[in-house]
Amino acid sequence: MDNQNSHTPKSIHGTWSSRWTFILAATGSAVGLGNIWKFPYIAGENGGGAFVLVYLLCIVIVGIPIMMAEVFLGRNARRNPVNAVEVFTRQSGASHNWRYIGVMGVIAGLLIMSFYSVVAGWALHYVFASISGTFTDISAAGSDAFFGGLLGDPKALLGWHSTFTLMTFIIVASGVSKGLGAVAKYMMPFLFLALAVLLVYGFLAGNFKAGVMFLFTPNFSALTGDSILIAMGHAFFTLSLGMGAIMAYGAYMPSSANIGKTILTVGILDTLVALVAGLAIFPIVFANPTIEVGAGPGLLFVSLPIAFGSMPLGLLIGTLFFALVAVAAWSSAVSLIEPAIAWLIENKGWKRIKAAGIVAGCCWLLGLLTVASFGPLAEFKPAWLLYFTPFDFFDFLTSQIMLPLGGVLIALLVAWKAPAALLQKEFGFKSQKTQTLLLFLLRFVSPTLVLLIMAIKLFETLSQLGA
Ligand code: PFF
Repeated sequence: MDNQNSHTPKSIHGTWSSRWTFILAATGSAVGLGNIWKFPYIAGENGGGAFVLVYLLCIVIVGIPIMMAEVFLGRNARRNPVNAVEVFTRQSGASHNWRYIGVMGVIAGLLIMSFYSVVAGWALHYVFASISGTFTDISAAGSDAFFGGLLGDPKALLGWHSTFTLMTFIIVASGVSKGLGAVAKYMMPFLFLALAVLLVYGFLAGNFKAGVMFLFTPNFSALTGDSILIAMGHAFFTLSLGMGAIMAYGAYMPSSANIGKTILTVGILDTLVALVAGLAIFPIVFANPTIEVGAGPGLLFVSLPIAFGSMPLGLLIGTLFFALVAVAAWSSAVSLIEPAIAWLIENKGWKRIKAAGIVAGCCWLLGLLTVASFGPLAEFKPAWLLYFTPFDFFDFLTSQIMLPLGGVLIALLVAWKAPAALLQKEFGFKSQKTQTLLLFLLRFVSPTLVLLIMAIKLFETLSQLGA
């Protein structure tokens, strides 16, 4: 490996062929289970409108600026997140210890991957269920029972978890442009199309008005410290922020691409997909009184089969839809483990295939705890896991603690330490005002908001414990 002080114009892992490949790859990372599975169910559990509003605000004033800071660090150094932060500390004279942001990010990625692949496995199972006609004319109760049956079958969960981990391994092992770039380029457009079809179905056959009201009428009394923290954490999760995934992708971004415009495009696409997924799912939920809005992680998997079971061409569209959910999860999963793999290649000199194999293997092992959370460990909620199952605990720890904390540290590092010349070189802002606004958001607004939200939640938890 070359000297880390030198400024290489290209990453040793390759570069995206164009700005659009970066956009598609970063959107591929951002758009995933977070948008289609998680956003609708957490919006459902947290009362809808007001929650959605907090989430949108967090995307705009916290998420997008931090995403820009991550790409800045990645492209500046053209290295994996740990080394990218280290290179930056040398350029800016900041403490060497900032590199632990990268280390925390790598660990967060592995933890997320461990449960992400289990849920992506559900989507794979649904592809086959759909194509074999299981959902034809299915009732709401039947759909609920089908999902329950899957969760109660550890062998099936394990099989799909293993299949998905293997699929992810194959792509990351194939490298940046052949593997990651290709998946994003060919698959993302289909996902947008399938969601559009579902949106039309929700409009024609579901209770569209109730769905829209639920998502967009804010009822602030439904907001608690908990739900605000969940909304903020989700803004980080959905944009793949705070753990270096976008930083790692930024390292492969062509030097000529404009960071601001590019990231804005990614942020808008990601938000659109989440909102359209919500607009497709809630009308079906409200048209079927047996489905609970707050049904939790099963919401997508219980509500949509009913739509597919009763719509013309439902077998085809349903199969396509779940295949696309799996693909969206796939292109996100590769970005979850890419930082760890790039680190092993750069710092340990490993071959990509070996690094990918070991990292995927570790995530697979850890994922067994999530598989067990739906079976033997379903009631295992010890105090040291904060009364969560291992699955819920990993989700909580990563989205609500590690990603926001990582994001804030990245914001503080870049905004307070970046030399002016470096900011100009990477962002190339035409107007000074835009740069001042970005620095203001990163220096003051994001850290204050994130820490405040965490403090509110902590206070709420402590007072509950005291009560
Ligand atoms: N953004 C992905 C989703 O919404 O499904 C999940 C994710 C990918 C989170 C990559 C974090 C990450 F680094």
